Amino acid sequence: MEDLKKIISLAKQRGFIFPSSEIYGGFNSSYDFGPLGSLLKKNIKDSWLKEMLQIQDNIVNLDAAILMSPKVWEASGHLSKGFADELVECKKCHKRFRTDQVGDKCSSCNGELTDPKQFNLMMKTFVGSAEDDASTAYLRAETCQGIYINFNNVLNSMRVKLPFGIAQIGKSFRNEITTKNFIFRMREFEQMEMQWFCDPKDADKWFDYWKEQRLNWYLNLGVDPKKLKMVEIPDGERAHYALRQIDLEYEFPFGWQEIEGIHNRGSWDLSQHSKHSGEDLDYEGEIPYIIETSVGVERSLLTFLIDAYSEIEGGRGEDSKKEAETVLKLHKDLAPIKIAILPLMKNKEELVSKAKEIFNILKKEYIVQYDQQGSIGKRYRRQDEIGTLYCITIDFDTLEKEVATVRDRDTMEQDSIEVDKLLEYFKGKI
Ligand code: GAP
Repeated sequence: MEDLKKIISLAKQRGFIFPSSEIYGGFNSSYDFGPLGSLLKKNIKDSWLKEMLQIQDNIVNLDAAILMSPKVWEASGHLSKGFADELVECKKCHKRFRTDQVGDKCSSCNGELTDPKQFNLMMKTFVGSAEDDASTAYLRAETCQGIYINFNNVLNSMRVKLPFGIAQIGKSFRNEITTKNFIFRMREFEQMEMQWFCDPKDADKWFDYWKEQRLNWYLNLGVDPKKLKMVEIPDGERAHYALRQIDLEYEFPFGWQEIEGIHNRGSWDLSQHSKHSGEDLDYEGEIPYIIETSVGVERSLLTFLIDAYSEIEGGRGEDSKKEAETVLKLHKDLAPIKIAILPLMKNKEELVSKAKEIFNILKKEYIVQYDQQGSIGKRYRRQDEIGTLYCITIDFDTLEKEVATVRDRDTMEQDSIEVDKLLEYFKGKI
């Protein structure tokens, strides 16, 4: 857990993740993503979308509304017991706890606890002016329901043929009771979900296919294979819609936990929506099976952050003060800042203007940071801490010979590159 504390602190100090509503004393389990965290999130989503829409075949994108008819949630089963936590409530302070996470007494005030009750996780809101049952709506608890209710729209507009997929990234909301471990479990989060519609007789084959593909996504983004595992969820423990479920788990500082679920949802969702809406949601007379891949953006971000975090004892580089140095070894596709431009000195006009000239060339292709504040050693360390892939030092050689020194975050190797070849150099690298 020491590591998690360090990551939480780094995330705040360096502009990745801030606690929400901090100036008002905070708001439990909500987080704001700062300048670098929001870029990291964007890079994760871009990578996932590229995987689904470009690398895989026959997948189209969708962006459905967060607010849907409450009938959607009746049909999907989310308003019934299937989507609930079993909780006890303290009779004195009214705090609620999951039954598996509390003893006989309230862990906050030692008060007496009620018998366990089911608490639904759907977040209620009101649409329109009246706050009554007729205007009750729900914030979606999973994005995929927006996909199912648009099954016919996509089929009719896109001329897709079975098997095909619909991918979607968007916010989901759950009234989670236990929200600890930083951004692992939140009430507002983003999901990246893909629903693969296939012939029921091919469902097992596609399930195996997607579980491999999803594992490979993490491996290709550099996650340590020793910290990833797949867990088959047995009968009785699966989500209410799942015929088969595999949780992809990562070894977090707080133990092995799910980062992504791969589900065979069978014909559950389309037949429920057919039944409740009266509209046929079939393909050539048969309801397809759905293989789903579902991951939280923030949960995968936490995985990438933790996996990339490394401390180098005794420091590195000549300027190091020999104390431990932090390097965020994020994959090149995920690193928020690709290149930093560092003039050797800020009070030498020629160095600064050369650095800005190079900055202006590179910024058209990459997210580049110009940094002239502090000693060169400190600036390197700051860039290492945020995972910047390359640092370019602009020194007197750059002025005399039009050559800049490019230093690689991971190998620390330095290449001397002619200024007018820098763009070409990075195109081969990033
Ligand atoms: N549509 C299927 C579905 O929603 P899930 O297992 O409930 O399945 C899928 O959620 C993924 O969404 C999880 O593996 C996790 O990455 C993310 N997720 C779920 N609840 C979350 C929460 N409260 N905070 C952050 N991420 C969450």
